[in-house]
Amino acid sequence: MKEILESKRVLIGITGGIAAYKVNFLIRELKKMGADVRVIITGAGKEFVSVLTLETLSNNEVYSELFPKTGDKRIPHIELARWADCFLVCPATANFIAKSALGLADDLLSTVFISYNSNVIIAPSMNENMYLNKVVQENIRKLREGGHIIIEPEIGELACKEEGIGRLASIEKIIDWIKNVLIYRDEFKGKKVLVTAGRTEEPIDPVRYISNYSTGKMGFSIAEEANLKGGEVTLISGPTFLKPSSNIKYIPVKTAEEMAEAVKKEFLRNDVLIMTAAVSDYKPKRVSKSKIKRENERIQIELVKNEDILESIGKAKGNKITVGFSLETEDEISNSIKKLKKKNLDFIVVNNPLVDGAGFGKDTNVVKIIDKDENIESLPQMTKNELAIIILNKILKLMNER
Ligand code: CTP
Repeated sequence: MKEILESKRVLIGITGGIAAYKVNFLIRELKKMGADVRVIITGAGKEFVSVLTLETLSNNEVYSELFPKTGDKRIPHIELARWADCFLVCPATANFIAKSALGLADDLLSTVFISYNSNVIIAPSMNENMYLNKVVQENIRKLREGGHIIIEPEIGELACKEEGIGRLASIEKIIDWIKNVLIYRDEFKGKKVLVTAGRTEEPIDPVRYISNYSTGKMGFSIAEEANLKGGEVTLISGPTFLKPSSNIKYIPVKTAEEMAEAVKKEFLRNDVLIMTAAVSDYKPKRVSKSKIKRENERIQIELVKNEDILESIGKAKGNKITVGFSLETEDEISNSIKKLKKKNLDFIVVNNPLVDGAGFGKDTNVVKIIDKDENIESLPQMTKNELAIIILNKILKLMNER
């Protein structure tokens, strides 16, 4: 394991946050793994960590000036962007995130950032109110959409003595992401992955529908991770505020019927189907053409069953892999095993939305994975991105065994 990052070139950008001191430990670990590390630091970053320490640990010059000294022929922002196999900004402040979301380039770090078009990882760290600020979240969303990896900060005690989200992710987690990007990146090259996400909406009349609280986060995380691992990804999603990276083939749908049609069509050209969508089990039998008026004391809406998409697919799936998500609030294991069999799945991911850290709209999930032989793996609470990687690794293993 010692040389796992041998000859890999990691560029680290440090901005002005208290967590900057942790980069010293990160560099030490990366060097132990054989990586070549170079550092860019902003003026504010220098307030928090010493250039001498960074130079000593990285065994390289530390860069901060956009314009080279007279007589120096180098163009640092271009050279550094060409040099790096992976570019980590850590810690990333709200200011850096805003600048990079806008494409501003007014210092060396932000200029390298927009000159670099490969593997970017951003590890934000700041006070909770700053992190949850709508503008900051919007900027983070833009960066994600641009294909950059955001390592969510952790919940815990912050430097301002408050408890909350904003602590820099652990060094182990950051290193895992670097490894993921540099080593495991092409694992899905040549593989075609179909993912469904979100909820469906079943119309009652032109202004109302039946649906559920699913936001699509789990499915989008899987699609993004499979895309990062080099897979050719198709994402079919019900209505959501999320936006996929531009190289994911995106098929937005509304109803279960539309989703069924799209899945059946796309499944033909894909190797794997991961069905995270919370498909409405029922739809109104009749859809009123005009808005239903508030005239009667009671009304009844007759519901009819929607097609079970996974069950239909499972009947003729051949050698392809299908994965389902089981949403259960009671008897989760026995009910999920029934679904696994009925839908002819390779494995099923069981989640209970009533458990702490799980459920619709959350960034984390707590699941159990049950395979064909009914082996049950209980996983601790983790982010949906982390879970996505575990699911994809499991799929990869199954693919390699075939
Ligand atoms: N699913 C599907 N088509 C449906 C309903 C669900 O393909 N009409 C898929 C979901 O995307 C999920 C899996 O089946 O991957 C299990 O969905 P879930 O809602 O947990 O179970 P259901 O089969 O709908 O059964 P129940 O609602 O009775 O628990």
